[in-house]
Amino acid sequence: MIPYQVVTGTTVLVGVATAVALVYLYQKKKKEIIPWSWEEVGTLKQLYLYPLKSGHRVELIKAECTEFGLKQTEDDEKLLQMRDRGLVVYTEKDKEFRSARTYPKMVLIDVGVHDENHLAVDAATMRTLYVEIPTKNEGNEITITLHKGEKLQAIDCGDEAALWFSRYILEKDTGLRLGYHDGSYRRDLTKTHKTLLDFYKNLTNDSTGLYSDLTSTNLINQASVNDLNTKLTNSNVTVNNFRPNFVVDGPSIQPYEEETWQWVKIGDVVLRNVKECTRCIMTTIDPDSGAKNSEREPLETLETYHISNGPFPLPVMGIGLEVRKTGFVSVGDKVLVSK
Ligand SMILES: *[C@@H]1O[C@H](CO)[C@@H](O)[C@H](O)[C@H]1NC(C)=O
Ligand SMILES: *[C@@H]1O[C@H](CO)[C@@H](O)[C@H](O)[C@H]1NC(C)=O
Ligand SMILES: *[C@@H]1O[C@H](CO)[C@@H](O)[C@H](O)[C@H]1NC(C)=O
Repeated sequence: MIPYQVVTGTTVLVGVATAVALVYLYQKKKKEIIPWSWEEVGTLKQLYLYPLKSGHRVELIKAECTEFGLKQTEDDEKLLQMRDRGLVVYTEKDKEFRSARTYPKMVLIDVGVHDENHLAVDAATMRTLYVEIPTKNEGNEITITLHKGEKLQAIDCGDEAALWFSRYILEKDTGLRLGYHDGSYRRDLTKTHKTLLDFYKNLTNDSTGLYSDLTSTNLINQASVNDLNTKLTNSNVTVNNFRPNFVVDGPSIQPYEEETWQWVKIGDVVLRNVKECTRCIMTTIDPDSGAKNSEREPLETLETYHISNGPFPLPVMGIGLEVRKTGFVSVGDKVLVSK
């Protein structure tokens, strides 16, 4: 006869095991669980934030990674903290966003923090513009249009900013305005990006950032850019042509290996690879002079050997990631991946 204690012990164990399994399956169905095993591939070599969509980069040594992407960490907490692609230029008439694809000189616009509630915006030949961060509810909220007709709210930054951006970009007194995202709403990809959502199973509304193209963060592997450079004959590119947030490097990382990383862990932060990063004409604009490459490089070369298998056969460089665990990242942090 089996002793009573053994029977109850076994029953309890089976019960616990079943409960654990059910919780696991439930979590898995709800949202994938973060993996337990990781492989170290290299380090975070550079960290960048772009306060203005299409504007010049800001290089950081440390940043907070929020669910909407990178946010600057100021030692002086009273100061404003800039967020990645939190500002956008849009047309006064149709309320459509504008980027360096149309106006390459936008890549030369520098944005920095001035004080507790003002940003300083600079460009050669222009006086500094101080933009007060607008708050909603003064009748300044508008709906703007991004890629593929996607609608998204913005808070208008006022007439002085509109004048500055119109003068610098169009050399006119009107035509463009500046919009600000206060991080209080999320994008909806379901109406306008169905083709992408159907193909990229991990891409959802939760993958999006502020005014970034699709995902809240993106990563470049230095080895991939090095490989591209060996194929370019009359030009050289740097990681900055691809406007990354994270640049990863390591002695044994292979070119384009990043596309096989399902998960990436940097510092406290856990990221999910949701989509390879397809590339456009923007990569042919020199990020430090605003000049467009006359031979359409590096896009021309990238198109000859590295094209997306997804619904849009565009050249690929880097990956777009969703933030699954927020936290802090610093240059020099180990980069771990799970495949
Ligand atoms: C995406 O966001 C919109 C608006 O918030 C919502 O209506 C829609 O159901 C969301 N879709 C998914 C799959 O989460
Ligand atoms: C996304 O999710 C699917 C499982 O649905 C997985 O097989 C695929 O490789 C994932 N990763 C990427 C980067 O698409
Ligand atoms: C590209 O960079 C390499 C290495 O720095 C250099 O040797 C080469 O001359 C450069 N090519 C052009 C066209 O600038």
